[in-house]
Amino acid sequence: MIKILFDLLQFLYSALPLITCVTAFTLLSVLLSKSIKKYAIVYYIVLGLPFVMVAIPFIGRIFGVETFGFSRVPFLGGIIRDYIHAGTFGFPLLIIIMYMGALNPRISWVNKLMSIRKELSIISGFPIFTHSLIRVSNNFPKALKYFTHHDEYMETAKVVNETGAWISNFSFVLGIVLLIIFIPLWVTSFDSVRKRMGGVKWKKLQKWSYVLYALLFIHAVCIQVGGILNPRGGSGGGRAPVENIQNVRGQSAGTADYPSVKNKISANAEKDGRGQSAGAADIKINPRTKQYIHLISLVLIFGSYLYLRLRKRKKHQGQRI
Ligand code: HEM
Repeated sequence: MIKILFDLLQFLYSALPLITCVTAFTLLSVLLSKSIKKYAIVYYIVLGLPFVMVAIPFIGRIFGVETFGFSRVPFLGGIIRDYIHAGTFGFPLLIIIMYMGALNPRISWVNKLMSIRKELSIISGFPIFTHSLIRVSNNFPKALKYFTHHDEYMETAKVVNETGAWISNFSFVLGIVLLIIFIPLWVTSFDSVRKRMGGVKWKKLQKWSYVLYALLFIHAVCIQVGGILNPRGGSGGGRAPVENIQNVRGQSAGTADYPSVKNKISANAEKDGRGQSAGAADIKINPRTKQYIHLISLVLIFGSYLYLRLRKRKKHQGQRI
């Protein structure tokens, strides 16, 4: 029974990574809301550690010092890579924070989430900064080169579709705008900064979160569309190819990386006997199909948010009249 459940979870994570992570983190946040509120500092330290583990070797490299690469440690390395790719931790957390504003706070589980909105915002910063650190240093310069030194870029990059390359590089450059908007929103999540700012200024600044959500949608969709049109220039489907550290340092993962992941999964399945009795986790989905599923998930998540947010606003306006 547990095996079937575990297999099903694995399958859902592989087929619908974003929706599975959003659901799992919503459940966890509701269940742990009291503990997150009470021991916020402990959560910050534990969940901030992967960021530190990425930042230390990164800073070391700037000064020419080669430090230990934590991403090579089993399990921990997987978490670090998921932090870098934003899709497993950072993005679901931002989606949960975004949805809180559109839901009815009188619903008990929404109320529990609302009580830890500040803490979740602070926690979301760790995977987002990890993602930004790597992406700003690796992807951003190359993406900028596409627009500033186009011919030079085309000589070295594997471009199979011009439109796809344009969309991917546009989304990477857009990442900088996202970062610029995200930093003040994140910093003002801390009580001390918020108090110093004053309520009116703080509320005004928070309006930028809507711009962040809109750009986040464009960033995520363009990465997928760019990846579909021009596989080597875009993302593979929102999830990290776990064993390929090269992708963490170089240009983002393409669909070409997925067969290796697939082989590894089948190899593991055979190793632990799953070869004979196939479970849900062994069902293979074509990487291209995964990308379309991810795109549809993005449209559904952001579309329903927009609908709920506008409905709430209309209701409020109706009550005021
Ligand atoms: C210059 C800065 C940035 C660049 C170049 C960049 C680039 C990328 C790339 C290459 C990917 C696909 C590969 C992967 O999953 O890691 C990606 C995904 C993503 N990025 Fe960024 N990014 C930047 C900043 C940001 C910031 C600041 C945020 C959030 C505030 C963000 C949010 C995301 C999300 C949520 C995904 C996953 C999309 C999905 O699952 O569909 N990025 N980004």
